[in-house]
Amino acid sequence: MNILVIGSGGREHALGWKISQSPGVRVFAAPGNGGMREWCVEAKGAWLEVAERVGADLTVVGPEAPLVEGVVDRFRAAGRGIVGPSAENARLEGSKIFAKDFFKRHGIPTAEFVAVENAEDAKKAARGFRFPVVIKADGLAAGKGVVIAADRAEAERAIEALGPRLVIEEYLEGEEVSFIALCDGRDVLPLAPTQDHKRVNDGDTGPNTGGMGAYCDARILTEAQTERILDTIIGPAVEATRFTGFLYAGLIMTADGPRVLEFNVRLGDPETQPLMHRMTTDFVPVLEAAARGELGRHKLEWRRGASVCVVMASGGYPGGYQTGVPIRGIEDAEATGATVFHAGTRAGTDGIETAGGRVLGVTAGGEDLRSAIERAYAAVGKIEFAGMHYRRDIGLKGLKRYGVTAPGR
Ligand code: AMP
Ligand code: GLY
Repeated sequence: MNILVIGSGGREHALGWKISQSPGVRVFAAPGNGGMREWCVEAKGAWLEVAERVGADLTVVGPEAPLVEGVVDRFRAAGRGIVGPSAENARLEGSKIFAKDFFKRHGIPTAEFVAVENAEDAKKAARGFRFPVVIKADGLAAGKGVVIAADRAEAERAIEALGPRLVIEEYLEGEEVSFIALCDGRDVLPLAPTQDHKRVNDGDTGPNTGGMGAYCDARILTEAQTERILDTIIGPAVEATRFTGFLYAGLIMTADGPRVLEFNVRLGDPETQPLMHRMTTDFVPVLEAAARGELGRHKLEWRRGASVCVVMASGGYPGGYQTGVPIRGIEDAEATGATVFHAGTRAGTDGIETAGGRVLGVTAGGEDLRSAIERAYAAVGKIEFAGMHYRRDIGLKGLKRYGVTAPGR
C-alpha cells in the first residue's frame, strides 16, 4: 500500500515515520525535507497528479493551505483516498471571523469577541474589553497573527499592523491545551491531549511562533474534561459540518470550563511529533478507516508515561533567519534513544543543513514526564548549528502542575 504525505515540516516527518512502521506500507512525501529524503517525490503539478504518479492509495495532508484550496474535494471527485476536510470545512481555519461566527451559531463555548473590518471600528471595539485584550488577524497566519495587547497603545499598534479584518477578543485565563480528534464525518476519535509552547522564549515570553515544543501526557486532561470537550466543542462542530480529517481545537481550560480559541483543520505542529512518538496503535488502518467513513470501532492506544518534543530553531526565528547552515550531531542525538524529526532541513553537499525557521523537533519518551524531558534535552545537547536556539522549559509547566518537581530544581 502506498501512502503520500503532503507537507514538509516536523509534523509530516513524524507522520511519515509512524506510517512507515506499518507492515506493507510504502511512504512518499512531497515536498518533504532533509529527514524525509528517502520518501521524497517532486511536488510538481496538482496534488492529484502527484498522488497518481506515485500510485497513492491514501494521502494524508499536513498543512492547511492545500486543504483551504480544495485538495480533498478534488481527490474525492477522482475517487482517490485522502484524509482531510473539504474546502468548505477548511474555512474554519482559513478565516477567524468565519470560525467565531460558527462557534456562536452552534453554541460552542469561546472567548467573547467582536469582528471588525476597519481600524476605526477595531479601536472602538477594543475599548469595550478589559486589558489585556487579544487582537487577531482574520486570515491564515501560521500562528503569528495574534497580539495580546497589555494596554491601549499596544492594542492600537496591533490593529494597524494586523488589520483591516480583525477579531478583537476577550483574554482568557487558564491552561492552554491542544485537543485533536480524527473525524470521519460522523464518528470522532480523540488523540491524546498535548500542550504546545507558542512563545519563542522561556517562561512564555517573546513573540508567538508556530510552536517551540510540545509534550503529550494523559494527565493534561481528566476524563471528565475530555468528555466535556467532546460534548460541547468537538461533537457539535462535527455534527454541524460532517467534518472529515483532523479537527484541532486550541483550548483554554478556564475556571468555567473549556473554551475554544480556534479550530485548525489539520494536525498540530509540533504536537504531532510527541503524539506519533507515543502512539502504539498501527495508525494506517485508522487513517484508512477515517478516509472511508468507517472510523466506528477503531481505538488509539498510547505508551504509558509521556513524550516531549523540543524544537530547535534558526537564529532570528520567528523573525528573519539564515538558511544553508550545516547541522552537526543528529546521529549522536539519536544514539541517546531520542527521535530527531526534521522540519526546516535539506540535504546539502556537506550533509544536512538548515532550510527553515523551525529546524528540528527532538522527541523522546519516558515512563513519566520528567524522564521524557530529561531524555529530550540530553539529545538536544548533542546537536549543534550556528545561531540555533531552543526553549529550555518545554514540559516544565506540566511537571509543576502535576505536583512533580522539575529536574534539578
Ligand atoms: P491563535 O492563533 O488563536 O491560536 O492564538 C495564538 C495564541 O495566542 C494562542 O495559542 C494563545 O496562547 C494566545 N491567545 C489567543 N487568543 C487568546 C485569548 N482569547 N485569551 C488568551 N490567550 C489567547
Ligand atoms: N502548534 C500549533 C499549530 O499547529 O497550529
